Amino acid sequence: MRAMVYRGPYKVRMEEKERPSIEHPNDAIVKVQLAAICGSDLHLYHGMMPDTRIGHTFGHEFIGVVDEVGSSVRNLAVGDRVMVPFNIFCGTCWYCARGLYSNCHNVNPNATAVGGIYGYSHTTGGYDGGQSEYVRVPFADVGPSKIPDWMDDEDAVLLTDMTATGYFGAQLGDIVQGDVVIVFGAGPVGLVAARSAWLMGAGRVIVIDHLDYRLEKARTFAQAETYNFTQYGDIVLEMKKATDFLGADVAIDCVGAEADGNFVQHVTSSKLKLQGGSPVALNWAIDSVRKGATISVMGAYGPLFSAVKFGDAMNKGLTIHTNQCPVKRQWPRLFEHVRNGYLKPSELATHRVPLEHIAEGYHMFSAKLDGCIKPLVVPTAA
Ligand SMILES: NC(=O)c1ccc[n+]([C@@H]2O[C@H](COP(=O)([O-])OP(=O)(O)OC[C@H]3O[C@@H](n4cnc5c(N)ncnc54)[C@H](O)[C@@H]3O)[C@@H](O)[C@H]2O)c1
Ligand SMILES: [Zn+2]
Ligand SMILES: [Zn+2]
Repeated sequence: MRAMVYRGPYKVRMEEKERPSIEHPNDAIVKVQLAAICGSDLHLYHGMMPDTRIGHTFGHEFIGVVDEVGSSVRNLAVGDRVMVPFNIFCGTCWYCARGLYSNCHNVNPNATAVGGIYGYSHTTGGYDGGQSEYVRVPFADVGPSKIPDWMDDEDAVLLTDMTATGYFGAQLGDIVQGDVVIVFGAGPVGLVAARSAWLMGAGRVIVIDHLDYRLEKARTFAQAETYNFTQYGDIVLEMKKATDFLGADVAIDCVGAEADGNFVQHVTSSKLKLQGGSPVALNWAIDSVRKGATISVMGAYGPLFSAVKFGDAMNKGLTIHTNQCPVKRQWPRLFEHVRNGYLKPSELATHRVPLEHIAEGYHMFSAKLDGCIKPLVVPTAA
């Protein structure tokens, strides 16, 4: 079969690879119809994520048709069209019993801090991902859901991570009626978080980035006020000015470890790898909110120490919520929002990349070329 394969930092390509097979009675093999590239894949692509092995296939956002099922699978049958959440989870452990699917304790032999994720290095279990013609889906009775008849394929694939994560980011902000919410990052996750903040009662939504084309999308897709941080000497001061010098009620970090905006942080993280990531956006979030505010962190960070302004967070009495998104927990409410037209995830899909052109797809998304917001991957297009 054909699959995206990692060959080292900034090097990915399509290769022939052995088709996965059933390894456990509760596995399914899914023939992928549509996948996507996530901002998280860029951390792997840039060589930021430990234990990303040569030959690994990325891709944790995918939908497809069930091609084969193991002997114990009861909820799925060959031919079913399914959407698969990016988390691999058992459904029965202490965490899964509490809906903390992204923290499942039974699926990642390589680390206890993080659960299982498709195509996301051996740090999250080493499972091959869905930027591929076929993928092995463990715990097939637990993770996937059949795609409702009324749902568009592009909406379905974007519910397997991006939309669920952006919505979760807004949820973890504990937004109450009238709150001023700042979203850092106008990537796909930030755009959905900004749009979702309104659904939770925000009174004002502000989005910060340095890419004008994405800020334009923040205005049209998420009806947000926007700031390009390169146009201000100090974006934190600007946020104070915009909020009666109190600071915002909620900030949502949708940037993560590869934040721009501070040269020293950039060099000590991405270049020298002295810290697990550049916490520029996280520090801006800590500084931009009022005392007693809530910060929600969706951006991904490496496990190593980063120079986070934790003392300021402590002295300001901030509440910090963070996690990998437990995708399937979000679906019932999100299906309603998509069906009712409150959210249209596919509005953020800007490119459809055939697997043959996967290298160009990664380069375009990474370098933010051609107005790229969210690239989809089409495995079967010849
Ligand atoms: N928690 C989860 O479950 C989960 C799920 C998906 C993605 N993520 C993470 O969320 C983050 C965003 O994902 P994405 O797909 O939107 O990625 P993306 O790379 O497309 O978007 C990140 C955006 O942040 C902007 N940015 C860079 N530095 C900034 C700064 N200092 N202030 C404000 N904006 C800045 C970039 O220009 C870019 O538009 C990534 O770190 C990704 O790994 C987490
Ligand atoms: Zn992701
Ligand atoms: Zn579990």
